[in-house]
Amino acid sequence: MKIINAKNKGFNYPVIIGQNIINSLPAELSKRKLSGRVFVIIDSNVYKYYHEVIKNVFDNRTEKIHYLQLPANEKLKSLNSADKVYKTLIGENFGRDTLLLAIGGGTIGDVGGFVASTYMRGVELVHVPTTLLAAVDSSIGGKTGINLLNAKNIIGTFYQPSLVLVDINFFKSLHEDEITSGAGEIVKYGFISDEDFYNYIYKNLGLLLELNSSVLNNIISESVKLKLAVISNDVFDTKGLRKILNFGHTFAHAFESYFSFRFNHGKAVIAGLIAALFLSHRKRIINREKLNDLLRLPLLLKNKNLISDFNSSEMVELMRTDKKNKKGMLNFVLIKDFGELRKFWFKRANCRIVRAKPGSFVCHIWRDAMLKLFRPYCINFGTV
Ligand SMILES: NC(=O)c1ccc[n+]([C@@H]2O[C@H](COP(=O)([O-])OP(=O)(O)OC[C@H]3O[C@@H](n4cnc5c(N)ncnc54)[C@H](O)[C@@H]3O)[C@@H](O)[C@H]2O)c1
Repeated sequence: MKIINAKNKGFNYPVIIGQNIINSLPAELSKRKLSGRVFVIIDSNVYKYYHEVIKNVFDNRTEKIHYLQLPANEKLKSLNSADKVYKTLIGENFGRDTLLLAIGGGTIGDVGGFVASTYMRGVELVHVPTTLLAAVDSSIGGKTGINLLNAKNIIGTFYQPSLVLVDINFFKSLHEDEITSGAGEIVKYGFISDEDFYNYIYKNLGLLLELNSSVLNNIISESVKLKLAVISNDVFDTKGLRKILNFGHTFAHAFESYFSFRFNHGKAVIAGLIAALFLSHRKRIINREKLNDLLRLPLLLKNKNLISDFNSSEMVELMRTDKKNKKGMLNFVLIKDFGELRKFWFKRANCRIVRAKPGSFVCHIWRDAMLKLFRPYCINFGTV
């Protein structure tokens, strides 16, 4: 079991990572004086697989634990879902002493976090992430999010949990696509960390995808440490430091919208990372040799049913609506080297539209597609 302390002026909580550790949750809660009345919001798939396991966790509790099962998917991140959780909390007389336990992937965590941050002006929150993506990313850092109209995470809060417990046993029932999705964010950490971590992931990606416990423990811990190091210096995303976590994400969010969320977030991130690498090369921030070096890791995932067939004009239109844009400028995080990322602004007025070949977003011809996509745009850019 590894414990990483998330510590900053405004928060101090542990992220506990291990195998077969879910039963230690009550002890961890009482160790930290988290004695509130437990309200569990749980992904209905997770409930289906693990309800016995989870109910056993609280076997010794005398008070009734309330479970609210919710179907986890992007549509869950709505005001309607939050409304349902609020009404259940009120109906069951949950007060300020509520301890909201969010058991599930990033969608459950985002809704649970949002409700915890707003119900009675904030109640204790504990995340038990059950997807690889939630373990390395969404349960860490305190962002909560709800979608409205077509805008992703347009409503949300910053709200830190009091504890995060990652039991890698949950991942055994994940669909292969969800494991690839988590791997997408992990590959991103490979770029923003350093060459050693990148190479560790590169060498062990196969074992990671097979859910080898020691590799999982190492990679999750390093990813969590890295995310915490970034967010601790920019908790409310005001200094621009947190933006490096968005490497590949301007493209990824546009891909997600373009494909109406048919591809999961991490797969969109893998495509987005590759696109961002090509754009970094296109802008002469990295040379061809560096590009090939940096592409090694994401290209290991090329057989994982990634994104294909997109219309680049529509992609650019979608990127224009990205909420990171300012004054009509498109925002991208680009890479100079391992751990050296910068934010670039692209003048919207100069964007022209070209078409990528149908099917061009298959890895072996990605290079040409991305060069075509970006060749004519440009670009008044500088670091921020
Ligand atoms: N708050 C943040 O900082 C942050 C960061 C990254 C991503 N996110 C958000 O996270 C969301 C994506 O999260 P996700 O990828 O975990 O998706 P998800 O929560 O939708 O889960 C994906 C699928 O896996 C299933 N599942 C979950 N755990 C399982 C298990 N142990 N066994 C079997 N099936 C299981 C779910 O039922 C669902 O079908 C997106 O909405 C994204 O915006 C938030």
